[in-house]
Amino acid sequence: MKDIIEELERRREIARLGGGQARIEAQHKRGKLTARERVDLLLDEGSFEEFDMYVEHRSTDFGMEKTKIPGDGVVTGWGTINGRVVYLFAKDFTVFGGSLSETHAKKIMKVQDMALQNRAPIIGLFDAGGARIQEGVAALGGYGEVFLRNVLASGVIPQISVIMGPCAGGDVYSPAMTDFIFMVRDTSYMFVTGPDVVKTVTNETVTAEQLGGASIHTTKSSIADRGYDNDVEALLQMRRLMDFLPANNTSGVPVLPTQDSFDRPEPSLDTLIPDNPNKPYDIKELIHKVVDEADFFEIQEAYAKNIVVGFARMEGRTVGIVANQPMVLAGVLDSDASRKAARFVRFCDCFEIPIITFVDVPGFLPGTAQEYGGLIKHGAKLLFAYSEATVPKITLITRKAYGGAYDVMSSKHIRGDLNYAWPSAEIAVMGAKGAAEILYRAELGDPEKIKARIDEYQKRFANPFVAAERGYIDEVILPRNTRRRICRGLQMLRNKKAENPWKKHDNIPL
Ligand code: HXC
Repeated sequence: MKDIIEELERRREIARLGGGQARIEAQHKRGKLTARERVDLLLDEGSFEEFDMYVEHRSTDFGMEKTKIPGDGVVTGWGTINGRVVYLFAKDFTVFGGSLSETHAKKIMKVQDMALQNRAPIIGLFDAGGARIQEGVAALGGYGEVFLRNVLASGVIPQISVIMGPCAGGDVYSPAMTDFIFMVRDTSYMFVTGPDVVKTVTNETVTAEQLGGASIHTTKSSIADRGYDNDVEALLQMRRLMDFLPANNTSGVPVLPTQDSFDRPEPSLDTLIPDNPNKPYDIKELIHKVVDEADFFEIQEAYAKNIVVGFARMEGRTVGIVANQPMVLAGVLDSDASRKAARFVRFCDCFEIPIITFVDVPGFLPGTAQEYGGLIKHGAKLLFAYSEATVPKITLITRKAYGGAYDVMSSKHIRGDLNYAWPSAEIAVMGAKGAAEILYRAELGDPEKIKARIDEYQKRFANPFVAAERGYIDEVILPRNTRRRICRGLQMLRNKKAENPWKKHDNIPL
């Protein structure tokens, strides 16, 4: 028996070494951790249970039968993050560049199937060179089956991708179908075809970073939800994120202990809105002052900054926050902001996370660039997402709620459960100046007359009471009491049951 146990230990040692010491050192020299080091950092200490450590590829082409490395380029298994079960796979770049073979794909599928069957989140750590070139269609088939599982699990369990090295070819589409993608700055990049192919096909000269680094995907393409400075920071932030996420679509949100009392008043909010209605203020100040312990996990913070989305907690329970940001483009809704928020609202709705919406929006952004870019369809995505959402929805209008954007931002008309306004709210078809100039065009030559018209419109609509008189606003609340109002609202809505008519699936304007 002793010999058998020694043999087991020997085989484990070999597997743990992946592609060997030299390749591990090369990985470290590039500022990257190995797959196993990453897994250790991500999971609770000692909680990792590995599967399929001895799996080897079966390829015999191109002399592959002579090079077999146990594990075949991906470390898979399960463990816990702050005590809660997660499944994971981590590409091992030291083994055939982490490339995907038929057996490598089967290892990933096994954890995907287990995660779905056992209704727990799955996290993929990517650092790989795409399809195993020596395997041809066997690798392509493997990818296809991984993709299918991504789709079947979508909306049932959270799926998270962290890009920690190269991620090209077939490797990009699995992350693209997960809920969130995070990247490590300077050491990771994602693209369908790399710089060499780009040069051949389009004659553009770009570096990997310029084509698909974190700096591009977090700001321009919006493929990635956040970038982090190094592997350690990325993995620790994933632990923080997982604390916000439900295990699955029926588990309900996690509940964490909090020292923050539900009725904490915040008198400084009474002066958050500047006297001048055209002066900006930072909506993140409101978010930080309202949520538990100012703890806010922002998603896509570097993209479409005119809208802010992310996770926070109220009374220890996860909520999704969506907020117009008056500091950027006056908080206007454009195509990018609409898509960003729509995707976030849909994630929250899939996973029964209540949505809190802070509104200060002057409308949709006018212009040919927006119209040619499909603003109608992109704006409709957000309208669609809010309208179909059946989770508790609490809306607070802090200042402007103009035009179509008023309807879109979780208004009463699209099933907002609780719609509050601060006394500073202005709810109208448009700003007073624009309105007066259209209604009284004939008087435009007379500055005094037109000013009187503007004042008249301002007086009539620059308040929350016209909407409150119709019941579109449930109550006009004191800014200092915002946290208490929202917490109590969430308590009242905790057993909310709302269902949409049966359908195979909807047809959101893509
Ligand atoms: C087999 C691969 C590999 C691959 C890398 N390696 N990619 N082996 N299949 N796809 C191996 C290398 O041979 C090398 O082995 C080791 O991994 C490290 O690779 P290097 O090139 O030395 O590393 P580096 O210079 O850092 O470059 C990394 C890289 C580059 C940018 C990822 O290796 C690369 O361009 N690889 C090919 C990428 C690619 O075109 N993949 C196919 C995409 S098509 P040794 O033994 O020397 O350590 C695809 C189609 C699927 O994925 C579509 C499905 C929808």
